[in-house]
Amino acid sequence: MDRAHFYATMNGEGTLDYERYLNTKALLSCQKEFTEFCNGDELQFQIVHQVEELWMKLIGYTLLDIDDYLQQENTNRVVTLFRRVHTALQLMVSQLALLETMSPREYQEIRLKLGNGSGQESPGYRTLLKMSAPLWQSFKTHYLDAHGLTIEKIYNTEYNHGDAYVVAEAMAEFDELFQRFRYCHVQLIQRTIGLHSKSLKGRPVDRLKEGGWATFFPELWEIRSQMTDTWGSQYGVVRDSLSAH
Ligand code: HEM
Repeated sequence: MDRAHFYATMNGEGTLDYERYLNTKALLSCQKEFTEFCNGDELQFQIVHQVEELWMKLIGYTLLDIDDYLQQENTNRVVTLFRRVHTALQLMVSQLALLETMSPREYQEIRLKLGNGSGQESPGYRTLLKMSAPLWQSFKTHYLDAHGLTIEKIYNTEYNHGDAYVVAEAMAEFDELFQRFRYCHVQLIQRTIGLHSKSLKGRPVDRLKEGGWATFFPELWEIRSQMTDTWGSQYGVVRDSLSAH
């Protein structure tokens, strides 16, 4: 096939209504010129990062709406919008696999082009990290404190699968999927540059493993351990075998 011909047509003219509405001219110009790529993987490398930024923009925007609905105790809206957040996060996780089709050698070529850029500079990621505390506050004020509820009550002693519990589980799902992104990202790094290397800022890469276990809403995870200890205290630390009864 004639590469020059297809390079010329791939970005379109930008004049049709579809192109104008979606601003494809700008969108498809966000990557380097075809002739500037250092190898056949660099276009994919740029696109995956750009798409991830778009999903994080959508997630951040949706979390702002969720915060408003939490304050209104509009549970149906909260749950539906959390489903959107969960789905976008699942996409963020699954599309990391695209980068696993790139060989370690080809990534080294791309890495030489990155300056000292770091994923920590991602605007979407940095924004999302700041959103969990206000979300928790809205949930706590409107779903727990306003009704005399606690996490312990909604999960255990007054468990009735009510609104506060359903919203808490949607928040836990968000937290778990964000952790999964971090964990799969570490696996991608392991596969591409190895965990015993240093980042482009000179920091040890295996430091990122700790982030894979960091949680947004620790109380939602702690309750599970507490319940296991409380319920388990019926039998002490080690349980008798069923055959002993
Ligand atoms: C082959 C692909 C990739 C490699 C080798 C890689 C490598 C790295 C490394 C070494 C760091 C640590 C940077 C530092 O300490 O300053 C990092 C951080 C990060 N990367 Fe990637 N990355 C890749 C793909 C991606 C993709 C597709 C995203 C999508 C958003 C991403 C997002 C991030 C984020 C958000 C951080 C900061 C994480 C934190 O501090 O918890 N990375 N990456």
